[in-house]
Amino acid sequence: MWSPDQYKAALDFAARAHGDQRVPGTGYPYVVHLAKVALEAMTACAADPSLDADLAVCCALLHDCLEDAGVSRAELEARFGRALAAGVAALSKDDSLPKQRRMEDSLERIRQQPREVWLVKLADRVTNLEPPPPQWTLEKRRAYRDEARTILERLRGASEPLALRLEQKIEAYGAFCTN
Ligand code: NI
Repeated sequence: MWSPDQYKAALDFAARAHGDQRVPGTGYPYVVHLAKVALEAMTACAADPSLDADLAVCCALLHDCLEDAGVSRAELEARFGRALAAGVAALSKDDSLPKQRRMEDSLERIRQQPREVWLVKLADRVTNLEPPPPQWTLEKRRAYRDEARTILERLRGASEPLALRLEQKIEAYGAFCTN
């Protein structure tokens, strides 16, 4: 299903939840990041009619609102339903865990969700593989690339075209990973 009224409701909700938050390293309002992830998700769903576009697009628009905007899972579930809230919860890191365990733990939980949730994680990393902030060390850039490779490896079954896009972004990001 394609339900643009739902996407607009999700975008409004996200805009209110993220408030004055900005995309790191840019002056953009945070919803610009969310819109970019949603555009990637829409493109992937348009290429594969077996995907539930409503779940993928709403999940993309709301994917950071538990982790970064202080929204509760109960609120998300009441407003957008159980499947959406479960998907966003899986996409959120568990900050009670040691930092180096958080990504792996989230990937394990994402893999227990439908493919639409997997593809939001791919779409998020495709969107985030932009030129890194100048203060990032070589070590940090390489770690970010390696993490992207892990995401691709674990979740590539979500969407072939999106997996291919992530592969290309990782390849291009290699330019920031040499001395
Ligand atoms: Ni994100």
